Amino acid sequence: MPTPITTDTKVIRGVTVRRDPAREPCFKVAQVHKEMHDYGDMSPAGRRERLHRHMHNEMQNLEIAAQSLSEFPDAPWELRLQLARQCWDETRHTQVVYRRLREIGGHKGEFPVMNYEYGVTCSCGSLIGRPGFTRRRCTVSRRLALRAG
Ligand SMILES: [Fe+2]
Repeated sequence: MPTPITTDTKVIRGVTVRRDPAREPCFKVAQVHKEMHDYGDMSPAGRRERLHRHMHNEMQNLEIAAQSLSEFPDAPWELRLQLARQCWDETRHTQVVYRRLREIGGHKGEFPVMNYEYGVTCSCGSLIGRPGFTRRRCTVSRRLALRAG
């Protein structure tokens, strides 16, 4: 399977990763973690920030799957089909979390977002390496969401 060659990169603290995907103007894109808001409690703002972050993670999962589908056109058909299905899954996850965010008074762009997962995962030149990283990150994200109640 050929490795995609991209110059679509950025450097963060000396590490080269994939450049941020496009975002609606309402989003403020952070480049390092200290620019993020982390309330660390169950205050209304803390709950909204966690849901906002979760929603954005689902968006990144969609973009990782879509980017991988695009960059590896010679991958086996069944794998490409699974990536396409993942795109649909991640779209629905994003919608569900976004709906919940609005129910508790939040909105898109209320907090900074960071495209860390996308930048790191899409820097991997191997399709085999990308899903494993994403799956582990999703599991962690779900655990955090469950803890948030
Ligand atoms: Fe998801």
